Amino acid sequence: GIVPRVKAVDATEPTNGPVLIKGWVRTIRKQKTVAFVEVNDGSNLAGIQCVLTFDSIDDLSKAELDKVTTGCSVVVEGPLMESQGGKQALEVVATKIRVVGDCPGDSYPLAKKRHTLEYLRTIAHLRPRTNTIAAVARVRSHLAGAIHAFFQQSGFVYVQTPLITASDCEGAGELFRVTTLEMDKVSSLPLKKSEDGKSTTDEIDSSQDFFGKPAYLTVSGQLGGETYASALGDIYTFGPTFRAENSQTTRHLAEFHMVEPEMAFADLEAAMENAEHMLKYVVKHVLDTCNEDLTFFGKFYEKNLLARLEKLVSQPFARVSYRQAIDYLQEEIAKDPSKWQFPEVEFGTDLATEHERWLAETKFESAVFVYNYPRSIKAFYMRDNDEDGGETVNAMDLLVPGVGELIGGSQREERLETLLEKMKEVDLDPDEYWWYLDLRRFGSVPHSGYGLGFERLVTYVCGIENIREAIAFPRYPGHAEF
Ligand code: 4AD
Ligand code: MG
Repeated sequence: GIVPRVKAVDATEPTNGPVLIKGWVRTIRKQKTVAFVEVNDGSNLAGIQCVLTFDSIDDLSKAELDKVTTGCSVVVEGPLMESQGGKQALEVVATKIRVVGDCPGDSYPLAKKRHTLEYLRTIAHLRPRTNTIAAVARVRSHLAGAIHAFFQQSGFVYVQTPLITASDCEGAGELFRVTTLEMDKVSSLPLKKSEDGKSTTDEIDSSQDFFGKPAYLTVSGQLGGETYASALGDIYTFGPTFRAENSQTTRHLAEFHMVEPEMAFADLEAAMENAEHMLKYVVKHVLDTCNEDLTFFGKFYEKNLLARLEKLVSQPFARVSYRQAIDYLQEEIAKDPSKWQFPEVEFGTDLATEHERWLAETKFESAVFVYNYPRSIKAFYMRDNDEDGGETVNAMDLLVPGVGELIGGSQREERLETLLEKMKEVDLDPDEYWWYLDLRRFGSVPHSGYGLGFERLVTYVCGIENIREAIAFPRYPGHAEF
């Protein structure tokens, strides 16, 4: 009959008959009469040990064993049995081994056991074969699944908003331009000289743009999300976003993923409640499903990881107004300003990561919502706080230990006149946003939403230092290798 394949993660019970294990060899140890081959098939960290006693394998297997090296791909056949050795519960008592693809040890970059994460970034195509990056990939996948499950169970409609857009949602000017190769050729031609000898930009006038006007990679799906929330009630997006932020930090990527729920008939309070429920749900899910991987991260990356995640799930998130947060920071900084990279903090300061982390890690010792930010440092679409003399907007950021800002959200300005005024203040052309303004003209409703940085969530949950390990192929200034 057909020999069934078993993945290492499912190898929990001894079997009567033989099974197939398919994976990549991590180590091989040969003794006089027996060889031990550790195979990892990507389904878990531990992999599975295969024991090959020379007497009980076929002749071809004996020859194949000579080809087995770290990194080669193999199929091993034999029953799963309780292990004699102490390290693992079960092992494959092999009757057959076949090398599928060999792996020359002298050129295989992962032949050596330990590598720095910096080095692994230079071989991003092979690094998922390491424990760390494979574990990140599994946790990341479970987080994504849990995010969809949470919103689907809560009745939210999943909407895919476009990646190519004409608007700058955040108004921060961090846009990548989208162009065609044809256009690119035109714009790199020497510029035509006009009569007076000055160069003109005629050649790259926007009528030649593919879309008839300049187009960009989206920085956020929010504006499109608002249009669907204004029809379907509760929606969410979950997709790639792009920012040409020239920052070399452990928290920024040029290409990342955002989860953006948007809710009609909802205020800022509703957005904060939803964010807290969602985050607790997804973290609880990975605590339940990714125990082996999280324990690994707790051992090698952040000692306190499991306790920190348990705490997030079980305690109410703290809340503090921006004004109050500034007071706390000023008080703390006054004790020893030299300890701070940015000691100047006052109403209107855009908080730096060190400020955010102090609030989450030291002051509140877990997740904290900061709300009612000054309007001067926030995006045009956020709803003015009338109670606050117009100085603040209904915005919130969720700050968490280790990462700082994990979520940014707000209640949106639903009043046409107020929104028009706000757009004027920041020089946005109402004609370009006619469709966005239509939402305020035709059946406008109070509505709210937020954006969760998915790679920041992965960084937070895995307790790793750098967001560049949280995504398969990190894009940041100078890095888009393939
Ligand atoms: O705070 P941001 O800029 O908010 C928005 O874009 C809103 N339109 C979201 C909304 O209300 N629908 O970004 C949201 C989150 C941040 O809190 C952060 O976690 C993440 O996106 N983020 C980044 N993650 C990685 N690399 C970057 N360059 C990021 N910029 C923002
Ligand atoms: Mg933000």
